[in-house]
Amino acid sequence: MQKTALITGITGQDGSYLAEFLLTQGYRVVGMTRRTSTDVHERIAHLVDDIEFVSGDLLDQTSITKLLDQVRPQEVYNLAAQSFVPTSWQQPVLTGEFTALGVTRVLEAIRAVDPAIRVYQASSSEMFGKVTEVPQRESTPFYPRSPYGVAKVYGHWITVNYRESYDLFAVSGILFNHESPRRGKEFVTRKISDGVARIKHGLTRELRLGNLDAKRDWGFAGDYVRAMWLMLQQERPDDVVIATGRTHSVRDFARTAFQAAGLGSYEDYVVMDPRFVRPAEVDLLVGDPSKAKRDLGWEPQVSFEALVEMMVQADIERYARAVGA
Ligand code: NAP
Ligand code: GDD
Repeated sequence: MQKTALITGITGQDGSYLAEFLLTQGYRVVGMTRRTSTDVHERIAHLVDDIEFVSGDLLDQTSITKLLDQVRPQEVYNLAAQSFVPTSWQQPVLTGEFTALGVTRVLEAIRAVDPAIRVYQASSSEMFGKVTEVPQRESTPFYPRSPYGVAKVYGHWITVNYRESYDLFAVSGILFNHESPRRGKEFVTRKISDGVARIKHGLTRELRLGNLDAKRDWGFAGDYVRAMWLMLQQERPDDVVIATGRTHSVRDFARTAFQAAGLGSYEDYVVMDPRFVRPAEVDLLVGDPSKAKRDLGWEPQVSFEALVEMMVQADIERYARAVGA
């Protein structure tokens, strides 16, 4: 029997890669979208004929319950969230509504409609924040450093709680940063690859960044959505860290990106701008993916260097098409 998956956050980076992946696995894929006045869904433009859309919002319990009843999925991937860390200081209450309470609304809808539905919650390495151990693993205590991180800790624990309280097949994937040419341009990796491409095409001369010393464990989003699916195919529900096990600084990313474009040293272009420094920083993230390898058979396929190259070349080609048009 063909399985049905419902994805919240289908218009986002991960939603688009997950939809592609599930279609290759033979799923009927249904995406929840919220109403907007313009229909700009560029990440899934190539998939619109292959997926179904239903209207709903993480703020609205009725919409989620009704659409679950209508779609009747076997699997739900809850990827929707306010996902940009700096915005969470500007809109802390809204971030809590989307990113924390939104998870409870999805879980409540599942409980009401069909408790046999398997659900994946998009948890985050931001929960480790001011890290208490290196590398971070499933047992590492959380110490979030932003309203976003705090909201994700709530989302994680409510997922665990519904699993233990109601016997739901509810899992939390603790994913470290994952990037791609579809990453939002406000996140540092895409900001860098986009900036490098603009400089390459002579559209600008500088790139303004915040803290260059922050370190992240960066992987490729296409690899990470496979892990989400694997987590829902296991015999027992469990929480797993998904990471590469390698860490690089923002400076490393910038250096590699400028080199990949043949522009020489990043120092000739990057300007440190205090506007992009955060009230509280997460200095170092590096995950231990050994449980993912052991239990899921999951390993990342794309290296840091290949990821930077992929993102830089994609942005250079995009601007070349725009300039040539
Ligand atoms: P993203 O590109 O920012 O996408 C977020 C998605 O959530 C968009 O589809 C957005 O829809 C939707 N959304 C936001 N608020 C909503 C609401 N109130 N109701 C319904 N939909 C709403 O994020 P991503 O990088 O794909 O990440 C996916 C998930 O993984 C997020 O929960 C994120 O916090 C988490 N995560 C990401 C990473 C990472 O490195 N990428 C790492 C760990 C965890 P619109 O298009 O309408 O705005
Ligand atoms: N965005 C941004 N812009 N970040 C900058 C800049 C800049 O100009 N300059 C330096 N940084 C530093 C930030 O201070 C941070 O330490 C690091 O680059 C990464 O920032 P982001 O790319 O914005 O990602 P993030 O790590 O805060 O959050 C992402 O990863 C989380 C998983 O750890 C998001 O995808 C979250 O949704 C996700 O949960």
